[in-house]
Amino acid sequence: MKSLDLQILVSFHLLFAAVFVGSNVFLDFLLTPRLDLIPPGQAARLGDKLGTDFAWLNWIALLGSPLSGLLLLWRLGTFSSLADPSFYVTGYGAALLSMMTIWLTLMVTAAILTFYLRPRVVVKLPYDATRQQVEGSRTNAMDYAKWMKRLARYNVIASSIVIFIGGFLRFGGFPF
Ligand code: HEM
Repeated sequence: MKSLDLQILVSFHLLFAAVFVGSNVFLDFLLTPRLDLIPPGQAARLGDKLGTDFAWLNWIALLGSPLSGLLLLWRLGTFSSLADPSFYVTGYGAALLSMMTIWLTLMVTAAILTFYLRPRVVVKLPYDATRQQVEGSRTNAMDYAKWMKRLARYNVIASSIVIFIGGFLRFGGFPF
């Protein structure tokens, strides 16, 4: 099947996938390991500002992929199969289910990162904070930062797997 609207929809789907995987790989493998090359104060400020831009970009990609994906399904005439349980035991249905399930987990990690962990890592103490408050918040923030790193690594691995699943879907799904 070849038509302009389908080609444009696939292009958008690929663009969202590329933005998500690419930005996560850049952040996790390139930027984060090199942040210790700049003074801690500047690194914290960069992390704060960049983290917000990064969260916006990730959310746009995460919401754009199901939008373009579901439109693709509808355009391919497969949308109604989503309600049929036997669809998911076909090679195509199983591959699509894996793609959607991993996407759902990426939404969960993105929500935890944006709304739970990030606000706790970027702690703003009052000017008259005591030494204990400073020390305590630093240890907590370090624990949360560790979790942010773990989830960021999960995002890279899981979204890369989705790209491979996309490769299978392109030619009819998993080989069974
Ligand atoms: C609910 C979420 C999603 C839905 C409903 C969805 C749906 C689809 C559909 C219908 C296709 C076309 C299959 C075909 O050609 O027959 C596809 C392909 C693809 N998807 Fe997704 N997708 C979702 C999420 C994602 C995510 C999060 C990524 C990557 C991070 C991704 C990456 C890809 C790739 C690389 C392809 C291959 C495109 C091609 O060359 O045909 N998808 N997806």
